[in-house]
Amino acid sequence: MSQNEEKREAASAALEFIKPGCALGVGTGSTVNYLIDALPAVKDKIQSIVSSSVDSTKRLRSIGFEVSELAEVGHCDLYIDGADEANKHFQLIKGGGGALTREKVIAAASRKFVCIIDQTKMVGVLGAFPLPIEVIPMARSYVAREIIKYRGQPVFREGFMTDNGNQIIDVHNLSITNPIEIESRISLIPGVVTVGLFCHRPADVLLIGAPDGVKCHER
Ligand code: A5P
Repeated sequence: MSQNEEKREAASAALEFIKPGCALGVGTGSTVNYLIDALPAVKDKIQSIVSSSVDSTKRLRSIGFEVSELAEVGHCDLYIDGADEANKHFQLIKGGGGALTREKVIAAASRKFVCIIDQTKMVGVLGAFPLPIEVIPMARSYVAREIIKYRGQPVFREGFMTDNGNQIIDVHNLSITNPIEIESRISLIPGVVTVGLFCHRPADVLLIGAPDGVKCHER
């Protein structure tokens, strides 16, 4: 099975979690795009949808879904999103697509977070994938200097602006053995909007696409 097939299978397995009357949060990325393509089959169970990015909103609207603002609906019963890395504690690195801030807000406002990934995303220690940090533009070089103290190499994501009008620093070569603490400490650096560690609010369910089928792990 190819990596894309594994993503599609994981996305399709997530449909089981959508119960009648569901206030649904939809994430961002290639795995979530498979989910969006499959959503019409369960349309009658969905009461409302919020989305974590302009891209996902456009895609949802193009197949006839109305997309609400989180501020209007208040909370989600279920949030389904991908990840760039996951560990056995359900902690994640997210933000490869740059949507980490809205993703973190919706994850926090959701009763259940189902994370859909292919097996290549499972790691022992987080950090081989460059850690995305959304920063306000004027803080970019200050935050980068602070990050060097953690022995990571900050790389500015050239030519990219987030949906919130901010910029992204990707931090390479981190070995994140204490992710909860690192999430807290980086979040406190002035100018940081969001760090792409999802550890204080990890996933509740990991659906992992693999050659021999989708593995489901619940916290
Ligand atoms: C978007 O900002 C990210 O957090 C995505 O959820 C993550 O990059 C996973 O993307 P893929 O499903 O495309 O691998």
